[in-house]
Amino acid sequence: IDVKTLRSSTGGVVTLDPGYKNTGACESAITFLDGEKGVLRYRGYAIEELAEKAHFLEVCYLLIFGELPTEVQLNKFHEDIKAQSHVDEDVKRILDGFPKAAHPMGVLSSLTSALVAFNPSSVNVDSEEDMYKAIVKILGKFPVLTAWTYRKRMGLPLDYGGDTLGYVDNFLKMMFKKPSGDYTTNEIVLKALDKLLILHADHEQNCSTSTVRIVGSSHAGLFVSISAGIAALWGPLHGGANQAVIEMLEEIKADGGDTKKFMAKAKDKNDPFRLMGFGHRVYKNFDPRAKIIKKAADDVLENLGIQDDILDIAKALEKEALEDPYFVERKLYPNVDFYSGIIYRALGIPVEMFTPMFALGRLPGWIAQWREMRLNKEPIGRPRQIYIGEKLREFKTVEKR
Ligand code: ACO
Repeated sequence: IDVKTLRSSTGGVVTLDPGYKNTGACESAITFLDGEKGVLRYRGYAIEELAEKAHFLEVCYLLIFGELPTEVQLNKFHEDIKAQSHVDEDVKRILDGFPKAAHPMGVLSSLTSALVAFNPSSVNVDSEEDMYKAIVKILGKFPVLTAWTYRKRMGLPLDYGGDTLGYVDNFLKMMFKKPSGDYTTNEIVLKALDKLLILHADHEQNCSTSTVRIVGSSHAGLFVSISAGIAALWGPLHGGANQAVIEMLEEIKADGGDTKKFMAKAKDKNDPFRLMGFGHRVYKNFDPRAKIIKKAADDVLENLGIQDDILDIAKALEKEALEDPYFVERKLYPNVDFYSGIIYRALGIPVEMFTPMFALGRLPGWIAQWREMRLNKEPIGRPRQIYIGEKLREFKTVEKR
């Protein structure tokens, strides 16, 4: 490891670790991850078991409060969220001001931040009780904003689901109900989305979560911390990869389906092209979420009777990568985003909405990490640097430069 050190004014040493590859920022009891063995657990529960047996809302509760809820606790949690599942009418006007083609992640980040103006009491939350109020508010309002962002893009009226459905089903209703109000639950779609949201719900100190924690560490408030997390998630090296994967697979298909040509591009150091959906900072064996999602993609497409050529292209790329020394030596395997887009597409979700779906799934993780950080009374996040600029210089007025 190339680590330079510098004495710090607080008495320690400053370590230089670009990208924080070997730096722990906090202690956390939320998510356990073993990158060598491909293990992921939320609060001690294996991701495989949660994806198979749990519902998204109980996973939200588990991540945020540390235990699986009893039926009574879960019902209360859901009722509290439902009571907050409305958004001020003026937010519609803000949304209206965005161009129709604006990327949904930018819109969502802005609207989430704008929510503060309509919910000022959500900012100064020191007690657990006030934190809880802010938490159920954002869990109630964020799916509305996500669905509205989609509906605005599609030119559909902005309205609500209702209060008789489950959390995820209600979201699907807000997304897909017809202008007439008609909506019928499709169990296959519901189960598939629930599973995807669970798989995305937390992943310890990734880029967006670290952003949420560091913004929250200034006591800026939950909603803006989440808004910053959404911005961080947007990038193609992070959550934006799910959109980039489908665009890449489409490009390969349009180009005639020659996967070897694109593999060669990914290996060419003079070409900025990367195999999107491949590689991970922590997983150096396999991403357990990718395994579950690959199987789910097969099941969903079969159950919905969809034949998607790009699933075959994705599988061919994976097979080639597993046998290719470049990918093997660098331990590059499919990550959570490699197959997720294929499922979103089968569920009727347009490609620009893939990363917002990730955000919806990651919301409980961001909340849990923010809450843990506040309850632990962590100090404000403030990394140091190694200065490599000019030494002291004499100032010259503009005429003398
Ligand atoms: N395609 C081709 N080469 C790659 C890829 C890829 N997808 N990913 C990494 N490499 C190569 C790098 O060029 C580098 O090669 P070198 O050692 O010869 O210089 C080596 O593998 C190590 O890569 P780094 O970029 O140093 O690894 P890092 O841990 O910093 O980055 C990341 C991880 C960002 C995920 C990277 O693998 C990547 O860009 N993948 C594609 C984007 C993607 O799928 N992101 C989603 C990640 S999961 C998530 O955030 C939800």
